[in-house]
Amino acid sequence: MPANDGTTEQNDGTDDMTDTVADPIYKTDALIAQDIDQYLKVHEHKTMLRFITCGSVDDGKSTLIGRLLYDSKMIFEDQLEALQSDSRKVGTQGHEIDFALLVDGLAAEREQGITIDVAYRFFATEKRKFIVADTPGHEQYTRNMVTGASTADLAVILIDARKGVLTQTRRHSYLAHLIGIQNIVLAVNKMDLVGYDQATFDAIVEDYTAFAKSIGITAFTAMPISGFKGDNITTLSANTPWYQGPSLIEHLETVEVNSATDADKPFRMPVQWVNRPNLDFRGFSGLIATGSVRPGDSVRVLPSGKTSSVTRIVTLNGDLDQAVAGQSVTLCFADEIDCSRGDVIALADSPPQAADQFEATIVWMADEEMLPGRAYWLKIGTQTVTATIQQPKYQVNVNTMEHLAAKTLDLNAIGVANLSTDKQIVFEPYADNRTLGGFILIDKISNATVAAGMLHFSLRRAQNVHWQATDVSRDFHARLKNQRPAVLWFTGLSGAGKSTIANLVEKKLARMNRHTFLLDGDNVRHGLNKDLGFTDADRVENIRRVGEVAKLMTDAGLIVITAFISPFRSERDMVRQMMQPGEFFEVHIDTPLAEAEARDVKGLYKKARAGELKNFTGIDSPYEPPHDPEMRIDTTAMTADEAADAIVARLIP
Ligand code: ADX
Repeated sequence: MPANDGTTEQNDGTDDMTDTVADPIYKTDALIAQDIDQYLKVHEHKTMLRFITCGSVDDGKSTLIGRLLYDSKMIFEDQLEALQSDSRKVGTQGHEIDFALLVDGLAAEREQGITIDVAYRFFATEKRKFIVADTPGHEQYTRNMVTGASTADLAVILIDARKGVLTQTRRHSYLAHLIGIQNIVLAVNKMDLVGYDQATFDAIVEDYTAFAKSIGITAFTAMPISGFKGDNITTLSANTPWYQGPSLIEHLETVEVNSATDADKPFRMPVQWVNRPNLDFRGFSGLIATGSVRPGDSVRVLPSGKTSSVTRIVTLNGDLDQAVAGQSVTLCFADEIDCSRGDVIALADSPPQAADQFEATIVWMADEEMLPGRAYWLKIGTQTVTATIQQPKYQVNVNTMEHLAAKTLDLNAIGVANLSTDKQIVFEPYADNRTLGGFILIDKISNATVAAGMLHFSLRRAQNVHWQATDVSRDFHARLKNQRPAVLWFTGLSGAGKSTIANLVEKKLARMNRHTFLLDGDNVRHGLNKDLGFTDADRVENIRRVGEVAKLMTDAGLIVITAFISPFRSERDMVRQMMQPGEFFEVHIDTPLAEAEARDVKGLYKKARAGELKNFTGIDSPYEPPHDPEMRIDTTAMTADEAADAIVARLIP
């Protein structure tokens, strides 16, 4: 690093990746719980503010965070010593410690390739304790920022006074607002480099005000600072006599935290678990999301709607007269009403709604694109349900806030889409309640978190479309046909022999007077699914629709035979879940790729190899063989007729 030339640039010469390096004061999500515990003990009496810092290294973010940690005197002695000697090494003069070194640096860890999604740091002042989530600034780290922001009370948006409002400032502000952060601090940094000029500061604030308004940010606190020189960080600076305050630390110490505003909302507590140590005690434990509760309050359990009143509020430290948002408690009721994990206990006369179709904003966080129609786990509060997302209504360009047409969402993309869940969930719009309106999506096969989202509202059609009970039942249909309905689901590569064997199976069943119907990929794609191609998303939708049709046909009492490549386990599993237990019969027509390609009945492999056909299964589109199908047919070991006999024998012993 060059010697200090009077600018702060040298502090910031590293790229954004350094933001994810680990050191003793950087904490991973995994470590955070343990540390918070220890930390909270020391500062038990103080309120806590969680905040995020947005901006890139160029804006002086690392320097600012280092300064906050240093000025709050919460750095351990040995770190401070190391810092002073490191600063000497890189030539920082006088008493000015290079604060960026405190949070950047640490090349050793970086070389080990440790990557941490979000780095958390703790510090405390006389008045308050703090957790800072330091999230990298680049667009490819949108998911990190969203993760860090999801629990934050406040966002510090850093601006380089020499550069003003940049694309990045807009993106960060949009995300902070989207995640529901109420308190925004516009920290105009590096004021020392613009001669503490008020006009420069005012112009930036004016610029930002106009932008903020356009995305719905109605209030923010702007302050001129220098993280490097320390102006307006802990105390007001003589260099900016035109600024009346507060200093950054003062503001952080006094600003109202979310839990305080949450306490004024109606009471809601998602039930984490039912506490029943013996027959004499039954309580419902959870973290109060909003509002407060007292013994004697009338409460309603959702979605069932059953009511009772609170008799006791039990905690580890004895019973309470009142509990508020942010506290973990166990509630006892006057009546024996049903209430289990995932339910929400709410104030009886102002309960949240329950619904199963919503509009939501979705932030996609996985490397694999979102697949509309695929079934994902949706976790909201303590509820976990299955959800499918429709094609996005639009995607938001996070740099310009423009709405763009989109068929799917890629990594870091943000869009708005409708989604539906397999069960009613108790919810509130995210804008009113982060706990009951914020959700994550989890891939059912890999168990990875693939998205975060915010519910806007439930769709009215969900309330107006009811299940119509019909008198001629499913059983009756089946009895009339004198058979048990079933789905014989053939899966395998193109040219594996699915259609050929399926056709033979149907003929054999017909001869046995069975009522059948064969749904074949090529045929269905001429009608019902003629709008679909062969992208992953289209294949997911193809199978979803075929699954629904097959289900209706089993309701009609039929034995349904389907012949689709159906390349993904997720969708085959989804269809399995839709059927009655034991009715889904997965048959893997297992023909090796080389064999299917050698046969090449339709000449499609040849075309695919020549590059004339894109996304061809087995060539440039994946096939996931079933792990545990009901039957596996090796077509290299038997004829199609033998295969069909074997399948019929399994179905009708
Ligand atoms: S699936 O993947 O969505 O289940 P489906 O079984 O409906 O596929 O359709 C597969 C049939 O479409 C193949 O048997 C083949 O005849 C034809 N086809 C055309 N293009 C492709 C392609 N890119 N990949 C696979 N099959 C294709």
